[in-house]
Amino acid sequence: MKKILITGGAGFIGSHVVRHFVTKYPQYEIFNLDKLTYAGNLENVADVEHHSNYRFVKEDITDGDRMLQLFRSEQFDAVIHLAAESHVDRSIANPVDFILTNVAGTVNLLNAARAIWQHQPETHRFYHVSTDEVYGSLSFEDQPFTEATAYDPHSPYAASKAASDHFVRAFHDTHKLPVVISNCSNNYGPNQFPEKLIPLFINNIKHNKPLPVYGSGLNVRDWLYVEDHVAAIDAIFHKAKNGETYNIGGNNEWANINLIKRLIAIVDEKLGRSPGTSLSLITCVADRAGHDLRYAINASKLKSDLGWEPTVKFTEGFEKTVEWYLRNEQWLESVTSGAYQEYYRKMYEGR
Ligand code: NAD
Ligand code: DAU
Repeated sequence: MKKILITGGAGFIGSHVVRHFVTKYPQYEIFNLDKLTYAGNLENVADVEHHSNYRFVKEDITDGDRMLQLFRSEQFDAVIHLAAESHVDRSIANPVDFILTNVAGTVNLLNAARAIWQHQPETHRFYHVSTDEVYGSLSFEDQPFTEATAYDPHSPYAASKAASDHFVRAFHDTHKLPVVISNCSNNYGPNQFPEKLIPLFINNIKHNKPLPVYGSGLNVRDWLYVEDHVAAIDAIFHKAKNGETYNIGGNNEWANINLIKRLIAIVDEKLGRSPGTSLSLITCVADRAGHDLRYAINASKLKSDLGWEPTVKFTEGFEKTVEWYLRNEQWLESVTSGAYQEYYRKMYEGR
């Protein structure tokens, strides 16, 4: 029996990780810890909450004493750490939350793991889920990021994730903490909070609202279907050597403007609108400050060491994603109105 702490399991990627581990590994006890910020929504994991190997606790990783208490009382065997402030635009407006959660919160978990695991570190695992944004920005001609690319973060979000990666490695080198890190490209799929490009634009197209394209629209991202990311996390969690780092990517680069036009074509078709109806919603707005031009990932190490590669073709993943958001109108409405937060606030205040 393994007891695994998954942090951030009510968020976008975390909820897919929780579902995967709860259902694929009934022998594991999955402990989902989440603060339920605006981005955390227990509806994302409602389908697994009655499984006997699943537990949820509402906790804040910035509370170091509480993390230590929890590690002491629960005796986790492993951690998969996803909890974070994750939106670049918010980090530009309010960087402090990013330092507190992404840097100090990660260090609190590392400290607690170190204190409780010190006598048999090799039987444990601390898996830190990170981002390709730590590597900075590529030109159109540059080769994709490898695990050897030097860190060069530009946004406050990327800087906070880079700092957290450095702390994870420092705890490995200084305290022999059994860590692994992965750095992944842009994910898309169901349950992503509609402040990020794809769900925001699907929702706006549906409601005939403007589609704010930052700057030239030529910035490039490498898109990966969220379940492929989860499969990579599973492989790394179970098979990677301590101290290793893996890049994860979709080998699927799109300039924003091309992706947006593709999105418009699919949504218009699914809503029965004539082709190109929603192109007029495209609205060029001021660029994001410090906007990284291009991200692209070389994931060949993960393929050669652990046999992982993306399995979901973009056309298929994109269609599925659009269909999910159009079908799950109530989910979109509750997260855009904030209704789910009010519901959980009352539920937890009553305890
Ligand atoms: P998200 O914003 O959807 O979810 C983050 C979750 O963390 C939420 O449930 C939130 O409530 C929780 N959380 C935030 N602060 C917390 C705190 N102080 N204590 C406890 N819980 C807290 O994020 P996501 O897009 O699912 O990203 C998950 C992780 O994956 C992050 O670490 C992110 O950096 C990384 N990542 C994301 C992407 C992507 O494309 N979304 C790509 C690569 C890596
Ligand atoms: O690369 C991995 C990262 O991908 C993750 O670590 C982050 O958590 C995740 O948010 C994502 O960061 P991006 O900044 O790339 O994602 P976002 O969806 O915010 O933006 C994607 C691109 O679209 C980017 O070039 C900015 C642009 N954009 C975004 C929004 C929200 C627009 O043009 N208009 C918009 O309204």
